[in-house]
Amino acid sequence: MITQIEPNFSEDVVNTYKTHNDLIKTSTEKYKEITEYYMHQVYSKRMILNGAEGLKGRAIVLGLGNGIDIPLKQLAEQFDKIIGIDIDLKTMERTKMSLPGELRNKVELKTLDLTGIVAEFSQKVEAFAQKFPKPKFNEFYQKIAELIINLRPKRPDLPPSDATYITSSLILSQLASQIILYLRDIINKYYPDKCYKINSDLNILSILKTFADEVQTQHIENIHYWLKKKGRAYISTTYMDEPIVKLGDKFFKDKENPSCIMITQNVHIRERKLFKIIKTEFWDWMDRPPLFNMQKGSNFKVLSNIFEKNISD
Ligand SMILES: C[S@@+](CC[C@H](N)C(=O)[O-])C[C@H]1O[C@@H](n2cnc3c(N)ncnc32)[C@H](O)[C@@H]1O
Repeated sequence: MITQIEPNFSEDVVNTYKTHNDLIKTSTEKYKEITEYYMHQVYSKRMILNGAEGLKGRAIVLGLGNGIDIPLKQLAEQFDKIIGIDIDLKTMERTKMSLPGELRNKVELKTLDLTGIVAEFSQKVEAFAQKFPKPKFNEFYQKIAELIINLRPKRPDLPPSDATYITSSLILSQLASQIILYLRDIINKYYPDKCYKINSDLNILSILKTFADEVQTQHIENIHYWLKKKGRAYISTTYMDEPIVKLGDKFFKDKENPSCIMITQNVHIRERKLFKIIKTEFWDWMDRPPLFNMQKGSNFKVLSNIFEKNISD
């Protein structure tokens, strides 16, 4: 059964997520032999199963997407019910179809925006872009800055559940960056010569950072809210992006593009307040050429944690 909770996203914005997911799927199939990405999947699946040890009942997989780094089959065998959540329903359906028939029935899919603001944001950005044609870019830009300052992430409409296990694999930093990617797409489409602005304007970068911090912190609070007492959560994230370039056969740090931290300190503080840490692991994976780009890529640093909900909350 498929439950449509928030059907009011424009197709355009959902396509931003779907296109990205299709690209990941194609690259993963095409470059199977790329060891770093393969190892990321191995580490991730192992850690998720580790966190699930001894648990039964209901599990929620946030950002199920292609399910590349999720041991979905084993989780479906172990738990009575799996609830897959993503803004991109089509990709989740494809992932669900890859399971054997009897396990498929245990997986329920819900279309949900985990930030609670994608629909509002995309509708307003689109409306501003149409109201302020190309010569009025500065007005558009001012409106966008005001919009982002006033956006507050909202807990999506999923009641506190009896979930004993919740996984959030590589979505924490993507929640905000995907929204920013959509904004870039709109600027590209309506004001093609102004793309540099969003990458170089310190004012907007600082507004976006605050916004990312709020979205990420809210995500941690949501997981805590949805989890049963003593339930466990697996939360992994790309915490650092180190741009690289390929010269000949070797990879080097890309000096033109600085490394950036993708998770704020507040997120860690919130996690430690709400959960007890059971296990932590770090690993790297290289999103390297020719995966997405002919010369450039990134070395992504992943931080993954298994948490237990504090009994006192
Ligand atoms: C990098 S993928 C995670 C990898 C995924 N676990 C896999 O194994 O393929 C991030 C997923 O989060 C979803 N996502 C990003 N922002 C979202 C949001 N605001 N609400 C719901 N899902 C979102 C994307 O559609 C995508 O499927």
